[in-house]
Amino acid sequence: MPFPLPDALASIPHRRDVPFARLTTLGVGGICRWLFEPVSVAQAQAFVRACAREGLAWRMLGGGSNLVVLGDVDLALRLRFPEEPRRAGLELEAPASFGHIKLSLAAADLGLAGLEYASGIPGSVGGAMHMNAGAYGRELVDVLARYQFLTAEGELVEKAPEPGEFRYRWSVLGGGRVALGLTVRLAEGDPDRIRALVEDYRRRRGTSQPLHKRNAGCIFKNPPGQSAGRLIDQAGLKGLRVGDAEVSPDHGNFLVNHGAATAAQFAELMALVRTRVREAHGVELEPEVEIWAATDMITR
Ligand code: EPU
Repeated sequence: MPFPLPDALASIPHRRDVPFARLTTLGVGGICRWLFEPVSVAQAQAFVRACAREGLAWRMLGGGSNLVVLGDVDLALRLRFPEEPRRAGLELEAPASFGHIKLSLAAADLGLAGLEYASGIPGSVGGAMHMNAGAYGRELVDVLARYQFLTAEGELVEKAPEPGEFRYRWSVLGGGRVALGLTVRLAEGDPDRIRALVEDYRRRRGTSQPLHKRNAGCIFKNPPGQSAGRLIDQAGLKGLRVGDAEVSPDHGNFLVNHGAATAAQFAELMALVRTRVREAHGVELEPEVEIWAATDMITR
């Protein structure tokens, strides 16, 4: 990181030496040396352009709820746009930095149906775009009308999703692109029915998943036609522990932090789970979470 900062970067809000334990729901990881937090599209664009010009590598951080950080990171970007969601007819527009659960609940309050499935999926709207987040057979692309992003060179693009741009837990928004915001197209619904569905999803999630402990959501992708949680469970791995990192006794695809776990312990536990599942079932589990500073034990 050049210091003093180039003018284009110095004018963007930033913080130094923030521990990833405070930036992620799992609560482990090294230090984020420089965290840039633009409050406008223009600042985000200035950041991306300055980094491209200076040849600086950076990471995109959202709500930190689907992320395992294994070491230090020099430079990260996290959007802090102040805007609230805006309704226009059956459409709802929100910035990428808005909370994903908050967006689902805002839609429910407005009597708009279609985002109930998202009411238990944490993180930011931008993270949900990046991962095409989903649950209960629904996913973001099902309701996505338009989305806005910056290219790796800092060019602003707004478009409707096209086939191939969003798949199971994957989107075209990787590779240095920055999700800026979205517009979802919902349906007029009965507010009581929408609220009941939201409650039902939240209750189901709360009973099957260990949400009372620090976690990063599902750790591995479901292999086609199979459930990673069930495969891990059947391999007898629930309760397997490395230090304070544990395969949740409640759901096999959740690794939980009992309080003092380290990134290295999670890396070791993930590698152990992959090996044991390969031995028991002949299936190679792929991480569903994003992993920063991957070791050769955990390849994506
Ligand atoms: N199962 C077990 N043992 C376990 C866990 C699950 O036998 O330890 C069985 C369940 O009984 C069920 C099946 O496996 O028959 C599937 O389990 P579950 O309904 O919990 O769903 P999942 O496939 O494990 C997926 C998503 C979740 C999402 C739920 C609900 C993935 C990797 N996981 O979980 O998403 O919340 O469906 O729709 O796609 C996430 O993305 O972080 C996440 C947790």
